[in-house]
Amino acid sequence: MKICFATNNNKKIEEVKSALGNDFTIVSLEEIGCREELPETGDTLEHNAFQKARYVKDHYGVDCFADDTGLEVAALDGAPGVYSGRFAGEPRSDERNVDLLLSKMEGKENRKARFRTVIALILNGEEHAFDGVAEGEIIHERIGTGGFGYDPIFIPNGFEKTFAELTLVEKNNISHRGKAVKALVNFLK
Ligand code: IMP
Repeated sequence: MKICFATNNNKKIEEVKSALGNDFTIVSLEEIGCREELPETGDTLEHNAFQKARYVKDHYGVDCFADDTGLEVAALDGAPGVYSGRFAGEPRSDERNVDLLLSKMEGKENRKARFRTVIALILNGEEHAFDGVAEGEIIHERIGTGGFGYDPIFIPNGFEKTFAELTLVEKNNISHRGKAVKALVNFLK
């Protein structure tokens, strides 16, 4: 089965391809000729995920899914949440986002945080949503070179390594996106 993953983030494509296995062929936005940035102007992950998926369906006519992810930090009342990508402003920068988060967490004892992903699927004219959560904590400085985004400062519960120190397969097994993709695959199968 062929389906478009509506993202411009190659790291996400790698993760999702690895999680989906051989039964599915992922088509990228580039492969359907979509080179513009997708709109995501809502204030919930669900809104943004469906906004991206509907944009691709409406403009390119292909069945697709899109994800939106947020990092919710307890000591910051759930921020940056849906604004995780633009936490330190435009243009989006993982480097500046992580710096800003670390500075806001200075002196905070409660380090609890969670990633949440919502996947919006449009298939045969119907819409479906899947989600996944990974609980963990924010550490004091970056460790690890894998992954992307906030991975180097997030240690998932039950582990002593950050997401950026785990392999793709290890991260997929426990991550927010990995869990949402599993729910997507169960539905598609
Ligand atoms: P979006 O889902 O692409 O809008 O991501 C929002 C923000 O969360 C961006 O800053 C991403 O870098 C970050 N992000 C998304 N997924 C992950 C992840 O799996 N690990 C760490 N950061 C992530």
